[in-house]
Amino acid sequence: DETDKGTYPFYMLKEVDEQPNVMRKLAQTYLSEHGEPQIDDKLIKAMQAADRLYIVGAGTSYHAGLIGKRLFERLAHIPTEVHVSSEFAYEQPMLSDKPFFIFLTQSGETADSREVLVNVNDAGYPSLTITNVQNSTLSREASYTLLLHAGPEIAVASTKAYTAQIALEAILAKALGEVNGQIIAQNFNVRQQLGLVATGMQAIVDEKATIEALANDYLMKSPKAFYIGRGIDHAVSLEAALKLKEISYVQAEGFASGELKHGTIALIEDGTPVIGFITQAKTAGLTRSNLQETMARGANTMTIARQGLAIEGDNLVLPDVDEMLMPLLSVVPAQLLAYYTSLNKGLDVDKPRNLAKSVTVE
Ligand code: AGP
Repeated sequence: DETDKGTYPFYMLKEVDEQPNVMRKLAQTYLSEHGEPQIDDKLIKAMQAADRLYIVGAGTSYHAGLIGKRLFERLAHIPTEVHVSSEFAYEQPMLSDKPFFIFLTQSGETADSREVLVNVNDAGYPSLTITNVQNSTLSREASYTLLLHAGPEIAVASTKAYTAQIALEAILAKALGEVNGQIIAQNFNVRQQLGLVATGMQAIVDEKATIEALANDYLMKSPKAFYIGRGIDHAVSLEAALKLKEISYVQAEGFASGELKHGTIALIEDGTPVIGFITQAKTAGLTRSNLQETMARGANTMTIARQGLAIEGDNLVLPDVDEMLMPLLSVVPAQLLAYYTSLNKGLDVDKPRNLAKSVTVE
């Protein structure tokens, strides 16, 4: 039974561990043996006809959209905006002539996101819902649906839905990029990459003892913590911080590391945990010097770097995959850091206070 916790103390840990298989399942479902995307032609044509993509979501799904923007722009060369659904619904940005909407929603029931879809349908614009729940409201009401096939996600803190959303966005961006004649999409071997991601995720979840020790050293005793990075690493910082706040009640924030000196660095005190993501060659050196700046002000810094960019003393070294897909790996230690901080504080990891799994009020 998929909803059985088995020997796991909490669903969240089970769902973190399921991620390698979720990656494999998505590759099997949406890619041919030779790695060609198998996506409904009509959907691809509808997306091809658009002059701009609008990704809409809440919370973790919004964060998956921030990665999707990079994937669609780089692989398919189509301008992409990402919006928080509760904002978009009541302050609609100016739209392009031919918008196409992508709703990211694990549950398919989030009221804020549905409100946007109702408006989109009223205006007659085409839309796609990417969801984990077949026949959910947003799935039924959108023009197209793609399922995440991640299996039920029961812990309030979303984990495997985030990585599934990103992997499916990558497949879709590749499909769209290929029909748009983008060389970068043709050369992007998404099947092989998702295989590497699955193996890499497994290596990370096998390092639980190391990650738990880091959670104990860095996060257990601090009321606040910061995740920093640039570009894609910044987008992952936002998700990493959300995980930590919602289940461990540490006041965590994700920042673009270059912005620190414009204000945030004033928050750094002796022992403040600052965790840096270093997975993008272009910005690795910059993020490292931003970490140094916080260290000089007393921060307790931790580095999560990918192998090819790692240096002596990095706390966690991640296997290398295509830089565009590094979020699929870098988020995993952040999920586990949040998990162990919550667990060792004796909190209810799966059911944090004040939160519901699916938010069906606006
Ligand atoms: C994530 O850990 C959250 N609990 C929350 O942010 C969630 O992602 C958000 O409510 C959106 O839900 P959905 O994906 O089901 O629409």
